[in-house]
Amino acid sequence: MNKELTVAIDGPAGAGKSTVAKIVADKLEYIYIDTGAMYRALTLKALQEDIDLTNKADLVKIAQQAKISFSKNNKQERILLDQQDVTSQIRTKRVNNHVSLVAKVAGVRKELVKAQRKLATCCGVVMDGRDIGTVVLPNADVKIFLTASVEERTTRRFQQLKDKGVNVNFAELKEEIIKRDQLDRNREVGPLQKADDAVEIDTTDLDKKDVINKIISICQEV
Ligand code: CDP
Ligand code: CDP
Repeated sequence: MNKELTVAIDGPAGAGKSTVAKIVADKLEYIYIDTGAMYRALTLKALQEDIDLTNKADLVKIAQQAKISFSKNNKQERILLDQQDVTSQIRTKRVNNHVSLVAKVAGVRKELVKAQRKLATCCGVVMDGRDIGTVVLPNADVKIFLTASVEERTTRRFQQLKDKGVNVNFAELKEEIIKRDQLDRNREVGPLQKADDAVEIDTTDLDKKDVINKIISICQEV
């Protein structure tokens, strides 16, 4: 491929966005930006500072002050919040259960969208999230919308947690995912939505290799 592309990957929780986006970025030698991790890091900061999550002005202040950056350590993506590595801390149940409340605040999104666009100006980039193809990078060269049934997405997340030694209740996890998707789909600003010009891939019965190959071949066609 001669031109360095911008690739936007959106979809609900557990659709395989970050797994697939990371590998696509590696194969194309592009950078990978996990925008969900940025919303998670802000949520962690708000929880650590005991901010009332219904207080929009305080959340926006946090979004303006937080210093979020990415780095790679032994080929592993790390996220830094105010110079601290918070890669593990942003994946807790507490953050899962509060992140959509922080992410629905328009002023918070404005700050993060600005930062995400800046990160994408350097080079070939694969960015995943909920509003990448619609809001953050509306002129992306390739737009993918990944989906899978909620049962399959819960099974994947359940297995991911189990592999990390964390045992959770399947039904509760499914409820958490449904609730978060609902909040993400129904918010007023930057909702989870397929861009009109995105290619939708239902991954319910697909292996991640098939999904990766499909995205790479779409990139090669562009
Ligand atoms: O990994 P998972 O799909 O569960 O979530 P994530 O991509 O880490 O995103 C966590 C949360 O951040 C989502 O549920 C959204 O509330 C928010 N988010 C967003 O609003 N916009 C984005 N571009 C990315 C994430
Ligand atoms: O980022 P998102 O929440 O969309 O999903 P993820 O964190 O990448 O989790 C997806 C999980 O499902 C990972 O453990 C993948 O190995 C697995 N998986 C996949 O990503 N794609 C498939 N087609 C099948 C399984």
